[in-house]
Amino acid sequence: MRKLLPLIGTPSQSHPGGRSAMTCRFRCGDACFHEVPNTSDNEYVGDVIAGALSRRSMMRAAAVVTVAGAAGAASVAGARPAGAATPEASAASYGKPSAPSKGARGLRYSSVAPNTTDAVTVPDGYGQNVVIRWGEPILRGAPAFDPENQTPAAQAGQFGYNNDFLALLPLPGERNRQLLVANHEYTDEILMFRGYDAANPTRQQVEIAWAAHGLSAVVVEGDRKTGKLVAVPRHPLNRRVTATTEFRITGPAAGSALLKTSADPTGTKALGTLNNCSGGTTPWGTTLHGEENFNQYFANSSRATDKRYGIGTGATERKWERFDKRFDVAQEPNEVHRFGYVVEFDPYDPASTPRKHTALGRFKHEAATVRLTCDGRPVVYSGDDERFDYFYKFVSSKRMKHGTSRAVREHNLSLLDEGTLYVAKLTGDSPAIEIDGTGKLPSDGEFDGSGEWIPLATATAKGAVSHVEGMTAEEVFVFTRLAGDKVGATKMDRPEDIEPSPVTGKVYVALTNNSNRGVGTNAKADEANPRNANKHGHVLELTERWNQPESTKFAWSLFLVAGDPDDPATYFAGFPKDDVSPISCPDNVAFDPYGNLWISTDGAQLGSHDGLFGVATRGARRGELKQFLTVPKGAETCGPIIQERRVLVAVQHPGEIDGATVEKPASTWPDGPGKIVRPAVVAVWRADGDDIGV
Ligand code: FEO
Ligand code: CA
Ligand code: CA
Repeated sequence: MRKLLPLIGTPSQSHPGGRSAMTCRFRCGDACFHEVPNTSDNEYVGDVIAGALSRRSMMRAAAVVTVAGAAGAASVAGARPAGAATPEASAASYGKPSAPSKGARGLRYSSVAPNTTDAVTVPDGYGQNVVIRWGEPILRGAPAFDPENQTPAAQAGQFGYNNDFLALLPLPGERNRQLLVANHEYTDEILMFRGYDAANPTRQQVEIAWAAHGLSAVVVEGDRKTGKLVAVPRHPLNRRVTATTEFRITGPAAGSALLKTSADPTGTKALGTLNNCSGGTTPWGTTLHGEENFNQYFANSSRATDKRYGIGTGATERKWERFDKRFDVAQEPNEVHRFGYVVEFDPYDPASTPRKHTALGRFKHEAATVRLTCDGRPVVYSGDDERFDYFYKFVSSKRMKHGTSRAVREHNLSLLDEGTLYVAKLTGDSPAIEIDGTGKLPSDGEFDGSGEWIPLATATAKGAVSHVEGMTAEEVFVFTRLAGDKVGATKMDRPEDIEPSPVTGKVYVALTNNSNRGVGTNAKADEANPRNANKHGHVLELTERWNQPESTKFAWSLFLVAGDPDDPATYFAGFPKDDVSPISCPDNVAFDPYGNLWISTDGAQLGSHDGLFGVATRGARRGELKQFLTVPKGAETCGPIIQERRVLVAVQHPGEIDGATVEKPASTWPDGPGKIVRPAVVAVWRADGDDIGV
C-alpha cells in the first residue's frame, strides 16, 4: 500500500532542495544563490556518444564478481538485545503500514509514512534512544551542558554541533563497547546563542563556534537487553578535534608555495578542519572526513581560482575574519588553500596528529569511501557537492599492511599519499534527442551508458606528475576543480555520498538535486542527469570494468530517479511504483549486511520531513524502496550506519527553520518544550531483540 503524501507542510519555493533559508545561510554559505561556479564549457553526456564502450560488453566483462574489502562493511554488530524490551521512546507509525513481512531480507519492516512530526518516527515494533547530544561532556573535566553559560573551553570538551558522518569502530577487549566517530559540519549560531546578533558576533561566540566544529571520538556502550546505546564520558579514547587543532598536511602538495602562510612558512601544518560533511571508514582502522563548504568561512577574495570555489568577495556570514586574520583572504591569501581536503583521523591514538591528504584533491568533498583492489591498494571515491560539479576516484599505488604495530599503522597512514587522482566522464548510450529533460525514459528503457576515469595527476615518492595540460601537479591537487574543467569531466547534479556495495562491488552515487539544470545558459539535461530543474535528485549505479576498483572504464545506469512515485518522471530500478515510498534529495548512502542500500535525504521537497530509506539492489525486489524513519522539523538525516541489530542516524540541524531562534524555536527535539533544540545521534532497534528488517 502506497504511503500517501501528507497535505501539510509547504516545501520552500525559493530555497533549492526544499531547505530553509537558514540552512542555505549557515550550512553552505548560500551556495545556491550565487552564480554556478562551474562556467567551463565542458561537453555534456549527450554530446559524446561516439567512441564509447558498449555498456553491454562491459556488463558481460563484469560477470565475474570480485568483492574487495569495502569500508561500508566495516561497521560492527553491537550487543544482541536479549529478549523483548520496552522501547525507551514509543515506536509509532503513521498511515497504513505495509506488512512488515514484505520486502527483501533486511527490509522487512512496516514503512514509515511521510509526516511532519517533530520527532524521530520509526517503524512499528522498533524502539529508539538518543545516544549523544550537542554539548554533552565527553572529555575528562568538561562541564555539564549549560547553553546559557557556554564557554569555548567547555565546548572543546563536549560533543560538537551538527553531527553528520558517523563511524562505529570495534573496541576489542571492552565488552559491548564500540568507538563512535562523528563529524560536526557547521554551527547554527542563531539556534545556539540567546539574543545572537549576526552583525556583531562576540569573540566568545566565535570561539565557541570554532570548538563546536570538527570531529568527536566517543566510546559508546550497548545495553545488553535492548539496542540502546549510550556514550561513555571520560574514556581515554574520547577526543575532540576542532577548528583550531593542529593538522599535518601530507601528500604531493604538502610544502607547496601555494600552501605557505605567515603562520606556517613550511606549508605542512594547518589549524583545524571545517565543514566536515560525510566520510568513510578505512579497512586499516582510521576514518576519513570530507571538508565540504569550506569556502564560506573565508572573506575578501578577488582571485579567479577562488571564484571557482565560491569564495566570497566580501565579509562572511560568521565574521570570523574579524577575530583571526587567517580567514581574510586579502590578508592571508593561502590559508584557504589549506581547506577542502579529505582528512584522515586515527581514533585509536588520541595523541595522533590528524592529516589532510592533498593527493585526493581539493574541492567540496562530500565524503570519501574506501575499498581495496585485489592486491590490497585502497581506492577512494569522493563527490564534489556543487551543482554541475564532478565526482572523483583516487587509486593508491601502495598496499595496505595487516597488523597493529606502530610501523604498520604508520605505513597505512601513508597509503593515501601516493597514487593517481581521476575524475569521471560519463557517456549516454541513447540518442541525445531522446533525453528531453522531463525524465521520460529513452527508447532503450534505461538512462545508462559508459564512462571513463580521466587521470588528473599522479603522486609518487619521488614527486608528482600532472596529466593536465597547462597545470602543474601541485596546481592539479590544489585547484582540482579547474583540472576537471580542462579535461572535460561530466557536470553532475550535486554529487554527494558514494558507496560501493560490499556484496556486488557496484558503486552507488547519490546526486541530490540541481534546480538550475537546463535553466538559462546552464547545461541542459543529459542521460546521466536527465531532468531539467531537477528538484528531487537521483542515484547512479556504477560498475567498474571487470568489477575491479582500479579500472579506468565503467558502465553506469540510473538506479533511482527520485520523487513522488505518481510522478511519471520517477524511476525505481524498474520496480512497480505503486508500492514504494516517496523520496526526495538522496544524500548519504550506506549498505546493510545483506547488500541493501540505505539512503538518507537532505531537503525533501515532497512535504514530508527528511528521512532514511532502505532499498533492495538485487533480485526480484530490486528497486523496492521503503522508508525506515523520519527526523524532526527542520532536520536532515545524516551518517546512517546499518548494523544487524541497530541503525544509527545523526539528526542534523533540527529546528533550522526560517525565523527560528533560541527564544522562538521551531523544534524542541529531543528534550521537549522549554529545552533548547539540540542536534543528536539516535540509535534505532527492534523492541523484540531480533535483527533489523528480518
Ligand atoms: Fe554537507 Fe553535501 O552535504
Ligand atoms: Ca539508455
Ligand atoms: Ca551530506
